[in-house]
Amino acid sequence: MSKITVGLVGHGYWGPNLLRNYMELETANPKWVCDSSPDRLKKAVARYPSVLTTTRFEDVLADPEVDAVLIATPISSHHVLAIQALQAGKHVFVEKPLAMSVDECDEMCAAAEERHLVLMVGHTFVYSPPVRAVKRILDSGELGDVYFITCSRVNLGLHQKDVSVVWDLAPHDLSILEYWLGETPLSVQAMGRSCINNGIPDVAFLSVHYASGVIAELQVSWLSPVKLRRTIIVGSKKMLMYDDTESVEKVKIFDQGVDYKDPETFGEFQLSYRTGGIFTPSVDNTEPLSLEAAHFIQCVATGAHPVTDGAAGRSVVAALEAAQRSLDGGVSIANERRGMLYGGPDQQLVGVRKP
Ligand SMILES: NC(=O)c1ccc[n+]([C@@H]2O[C@H](COP(=O)([O-])OP(=O)(O)OC[C@H]3O[C@@H](n4cnc5c(N)ncnc54)[C@H](O)[C@@H]3O)[C@@H](O)[C@H]2O)c1
Repeated sequence: MSKITVGLVGHGYWGPNLLRNYMELETANPKWVCDSSPDRLKKAVARYPSVLTTTRFEDVLADPEVDAVLIATPISSHHVLAIQALQAGKHVFVEKPLAMSVDECDEMCAAAEERHLVLMVGHTFVYSPPVRAVKRILDSGELGDVYFITCSRVNLGLHQKDVSVVWDLAPHDLSILEYWLGETPLSVQAMGRSCINNGIPDVAFLSVHYASGVIAELQVSWLSPVKLRRTIIVGSKKMLMYDDTESVEKVKIFDQGVDYKDPETFGEFQLSYRTGGIFTPSVDNTEPLSLEAAHFIQCVATGAHPVTDGAAGRSVVAALEAAQRSLDGGVSIANERRGMLYGGPDQQLVGVRKP
């Protein structure tokens, strides 16, 4: 397979991770780095002297050798940059979330389809070996029917200037859940609070409901004394914990549960509790980003359809929009006095700003 030439736009916090992984791929040739900040370009050249740099995206698009563009800029610019790249005939990889609205996603998907170009979104965790291992466990039926899932993604994180914690962190869990369950959310309710920056929630709790009956609770926050990346799945047969902060035993299956026994006599109520062993499957520790990058290059080279395609990006954005509508709509306060405990008139109980 001849090398696929790529250009990266956005060399801020995350772009360097993409660049490193594409540099390490034998199948890719990262030729350009574009960033509107010349300082960010100096950092790229210091690390990779062979790379060409520019502050003008048009330079990357005008190079006929460039097959594909990688977009790692702030979310508000994803749509416009992706459309420009697709119109220039380039395949496109866009960091999560795909765009700021479902309408923008639809335009991006249509532009890619019209020109038979690959459009892939960076739902990185879908390529992560422990997430893939959990998918295999769920598909095998070992956990039984999934009752509910809880996800905690909190730490003392970087406060974003333009987007809330929902748009920054929830795409990870929403994309993981969609991959595991094979379904998109039916409804999303969200509650959040802007503790530091007025109007930009830095903590939010999302309640997600799926048609199969599965319910999920997502906790996302940039304010926490500890870093948690923990998901618990409770099934009718077994339970599972996926902890991405663990270096080795990221996935644990618990042979635990409660069974309801059919009553033998009227009025009898019996439950039997199972507290069996804990099993830890061995999981490969390849960096998810390198698997994601290899998949994108493979799709560009062969015309295959990416696992995290434009449609997958769109359904996560649809869930984020629903969460945002819920945040914007506020909460119904059952008890006036209790409501005041949460926030007075000058405090922001729910987010009012779109990213
Ligand atoms: N997959 C993951 O785990 C992961 C982790 C972090 C961030 N991200 C995503 O990566 C993207 C970038 O996030 P970040 O934290 O690196 O942001 P950032 O603000 O640190 O970096 C963005 C860079 O893009 C440049 N830029 C902005 N607009 C530009 C334009 N029009 N043309 C050229 N350069 C431009 C900025 O100068 C900056 O250097 C976001 O979509 C974010 O959600 C993904």
